[in-house]
Amino acid sequence: MYLQENIVFLNGAFVSIQKACISPYDRGFYFADGIYEVIKYYKGKPFCFNEHLMRMKKNLGEVRINFNDFDKLEETTGRLISLNRLNGEYAGIYLQITRGVYPRMHRFPEKSIIPTIYMNAYPYPSYSNQLTNGIKVIMREDVRWQRCDIKAIGLLPNVLMYQEAAENDAMECFFIRNNYLTEATHSNIFAVKDEVVQTHPDSNLILPGITKKVVIQICRNSGIKVNEYPIRADSFSRYDEFFITGTGNEVMPVIQIENTIIGNGKPGKITRHIQNEFFKMTYGQLANDWNFENWVVSYKN
Ligand SMILES: Cc1ncc(COP(=O)(O)O)c(C=O)c1O
Repeated sequence: MYLQENIVFLNGAFVSIQKACISPYDRGFYFADGIYEVIKYYKGKPFCFNEHLMRMKKNLGEVRINFNDFDKLEETTGRLISLNRLNGEYAGIYLQITRGVYPRMHRFPEKSIIPTIYMNAYPYPSYSNQLTNGIKVIMREDVRWQRCDIKAIGLLPNVLMYQEAAENDAMECFFIRNNYLTEATHSNIFAVKDEVVQTHPDSNLILPGITKKVVIQICRNSGIKVNEYPIRADSFSRYDEFFITGTGNEVMPVIQIENTIIGNGKPGKITRHIQNEFFKMTYGQLANDWNFENWVVSYKN
């Protein structure tokens, strides 16, 4: 089985998943004291690697984990893709850094400890049906903390709400805070009204998604107006289109929210346009020589 053959990267070494050992004293295990990134590889090429790296550096600073070993990171992730024979496919890298190993106590250890770095590579499932036809989502209260801008590994509210979505034949759950849609369990939310795209502005209440940033730039390049203002949850039905974005979901149309059909129940015109432009960048002609850094402004707070 694929899982058993998987080679992972742990603290400087490539090892088989069965040989990868992490101490129960790891603060990631005790406290979810760590951060993570997910980077997508399109046939051996990482998409927006530097954007992910910059976000990770910022997150490490926010949670005060002292990890600076970034020089060979792209080489290491590339090697992990190759070792798992994922060069010709669409694949993901999961990368996690925790504060390190120490007997359990809330405060940081007095003596400095070495952060734990772990990565694995996996084939991305195909969502072609959902990308083509759109998905249903549910809506629930956003019970998460006030620092959702940090990509922290503690994801229990996201897990519980995603499970609820799955149990309701939905593919995502929109979070509502003070009657505004913030984001979904693992994606950002966009709505369209009269050909104007609207999305929550980057703030402490959402993750500043890399795909969100790319989509905003696609809109600007296409002359589509973007309004970075929160979407009112109680008036979602007045919008013509909805879609979500994320490294995994890419640009996914939403055609049903709870029991309400959005628009005519089919992915909307603006969503389709943005999706096509995104796929040109990732699956299409630009994927091989795409230099994202020259195109999109670097990630800022
Ligand atoms: C809560 C949340 N919001 C948004 C996103 C989308 O971010 P990105 O486009 O960088 O993958 C994710 C991705 O996992 C997420 O977990």
